[in-house]
Amino acid sequence: MADVKRIAELMEARKPGEEILRVEDLVVHYKIRAGWVRAVEGAKFSLNRGDTMGLVGESGCGKTTTGYSIAQLLPDNAYIKGGKIHFLGEEILSKTLLPDGRVDKFNEYMRKLRWKRISYIFQGAMNALNPVLKVGDQIVEAILAHEKVDEETARERVKELYKLVGIPPDRIDNYPHEYSGGMKQRAMIAMALALNPDLIIADEPTTALDVIVQDKILGEMTRLQRELGMTMIIITHDISIVAEIANKMSVMYAGQIVERGTTRHIFKRFAHPYTKGLLGSFPSIVGEKRRLEAIPGSPPNLLNPPSGCRFHPRCPYAQEICRTEEPPEVEVEPGHFVKCHFAEKFFKEWHGG
Ligand SMILES: Nc1ncnc2c1ncn2[C@@H]1O[C@H](COP(=O)(O)OP(=O)(O)OP(=O)(O)O)[C@@H](O)[C@H]1O
Ligand SMILES: [Mg+2]
Repeated sequence: MADVKRIAELMEARKPGEEILRVEDLVVHYKIRAGWVRAVEGAKFSLNRGDTMGLVGESGCGKTTTGYSIAQLLPDNAYIKGGKIHFLGEEILSKTLLPDGRVDKFNEYMRKLRWKRISYIFQGAMNALNPVLKVGDQIVEAILAHEKVDEETARERVKELYKLVGIPPDRIDNYPHEYSGGMKQRAMIAMALALNPDLIIADEPTTALDVIVQDKILGEMTRLQRELGMTMIIITHDISIVAEIANKMSVMYAGQIVERGTTRHIFKRFAHPYTKGLLGSFPSIVGEKRRLEAIPGSPPNLLNPPSGCRFHPRCPYAQEICRTEEPPEVEVEPGHFVKCHFAEKFFKEWHGG
């Protein structure tokens, strides 16, 4: 496809495989009347150009908070208490945070990065379109706000993007209410691609849609990801989505990343009991019928998370040490990290070493 080629050419100047993002020991707390919500504590992962990372975990585990920290879209009561975020070789938190750890909304450096270099598809994004403006014009505006091109060029680009994400280009002059849910979501993806960013963070990009539309859109996203060599973080609680499109994965539980590695590591060689539970509660599409086993209990309140390992109250394998000591992150095989006191033991027991 000619339009894919053109955008791929734009991206060619960038080195494949170079490091795009590295998050180190990120700590983010929210201040509320009752105290501090310890939403993210010690998140760590890295992405190279062309990677798609799935960030998965139950509702409330800190996925959106992590995404918002990278794009610096956190609300006023959020405080980044520690950690580093390296993006395209530069540490951004030291350049952009206010002295108390809050995000400076007017920070010039971040304003330039956002949308142009990091774009964000918001959770429930299809409802984020302005109902009184034509959809195409909204994307044109976004382009004009960041690039010195004339309106006609921007409109042409939007038409190309529409073809790319699978919307008929003649729909650019429709209003949001004239679009189906799936089309609105595709339009948001087109908007995220419009400025040719280095990193796209897609927060539950298809959750609101029915399964068939979801599959189609994910198929498109995978195709774009491969053809354009995009770097992407897909945030979702649906682990089956990640299996299809991501090459890397980070599993979050109660504000911490408990297991990370390649998608293959996580699906085939998981070594954290929580990951095992997540996979167990995921029905097998092929092969024998597995018993659908949800993880018993519910995630903890992050105002007062459990001592030791945060998963211990729900973990069927918990020992005394799990109640008292926070587990270190162990590298059970190259590039596969597990935050569990018994990671190596489980790795051997479950996968024969
Ligand atoms: N503005 C806020 N003020 C106080 N607490 C917040 C705020 N936003 C989120 N939280 C809390 O922080 C924790 C992490 O929330 P976050 O939205 O990052 O989770 P999530 O993994 O994205 O969940 P979901 O899958 O439901 O979208 C939760 O306990 C949540 O209640
Ligand atoms: Mg969320």
